[in-house]
Amino acid sequence: MSLPDFLKSLDDLMDEARKSLESVDSGDALEALRVKFVGAKSGVLKTVQKMMGVIDVSDKPSAGKRFNEVRDAIQLAIDQAAEKLGGGGSSSKSGPMIDPTLPGVRPSLGQLHPITQTIEHLKEIMSRLGFSVTEGPEIEDTWHNFVALNIPEDHPARDPLDNFYLATAKKQVGGNPADRDAMLLRSQTSTVQIRVMEKQSLPLRIISLGRVYRPDAPDATHFPMFHQMEGLWVDKHVTMAQLKSVLRLFATSYLGSDVRVRFRPSFFPFTEPSVEVDYWWNGQWIEFGGAGMVDPNVFGHLNIDPEQWSGFAFGLGVERLCMRRFGITDIRDLYRSDVRFLRQFAS
Ligand code: DAH
Repeated sequence: MSLPDFLKSLDDLMDEARKSLESVDSGDALEALRVKFVGAKSGVLKTVQKMMGVIDVSDKPSAGKRFNEVRDAIQLAIDQAAEKLGGGGSSSKSGPMIDPTLPGVRPSLGQLHPITQTIEHLKEIMSRLGFSVTEGPEIEDTWHNFVALNIPEDHPARDPLDNFYLATAKKQVGGNPADRDAMLLRSQTSTVQIRVMEKQSLPLRIISLGRVYRPDAPDATHFPMFHQMEGLWVDKHVTMAQLKSVLRLFATSYLGSDVRVRFRPSFFPFTEPSVEVDYWWNGQWIEFGGAGMVDPNVFGHLNIDPEQWSGFAFGLGVERLCMRRFGITDIRDLYRSDVRFLRQFAS
């Protein structure tokens, strides 16, 4: 085929396309024309393109150039016709704005931090055992953090190197004891025992979950801020046997029925006798915290008669419970705020 013939057939095609597109009045008709002219399989343009194969090599560049112009012009005319019909159309450029065949985009949902999940779970278990939930302040005075808990002035637990004393916060209270006005970030939730016994009438059965602070260098098992669950039960005849039952019931609810509980003799200034609580779980003994019978000296600070009332208290590390259950091995991972890590522990 000669070049002039080829160009002539392109011009004819262009005319025909323009004319029929001008008068098109429905989406279906437009679609039919689209298929007829630019259809990928047997559109007229495709047929014309094939004719280029028999054109002289030296004429090919001009034939190709004109072919491209005509193809673009027809496509443009189709797009314009589609726009005139109300944006419908189904040619590639003016296709529907939303492609229903694309995979959907899942909105990302937030979720509770593993520690928050653990706290909620612990509260739920303990409230089934009749414990109500209370809270205490994280900025404490030395009275609640030490003195009333029977921790004397010279006790190593009060060492400034082991506590976050606050240089600026001073509690303005008159009179003695002299050190009542020193403030610190509480180092234990046992403070809440004192606050509850100051306010509430007996008998009482409470837990308190919250943050505590100690200037420990962070490593896989230490962090300067962590959480504790404190428990306190004061009534007329509370015994060590009840303490053990409660901690066993708690452990089996939280970790599973194959958990065993072990008490080891220990010492805490605010309990007498005192024990260290271990759980046997997945083949090893794991230390979860301390417990004991409320020391009569603590009752004394609160004008509670130790002849009439007895009580037990316990304090467990929340991170340990959380990490055991979720299989987390480094406490620092909990506080890096890396959602890729935290997202694994969906509630
Ligand atoms: N407060 C203790 C600590 O932080 C834990 C503890 C031990 C709490 C014995 C108690 C208890 O209530 O009875 O190490």
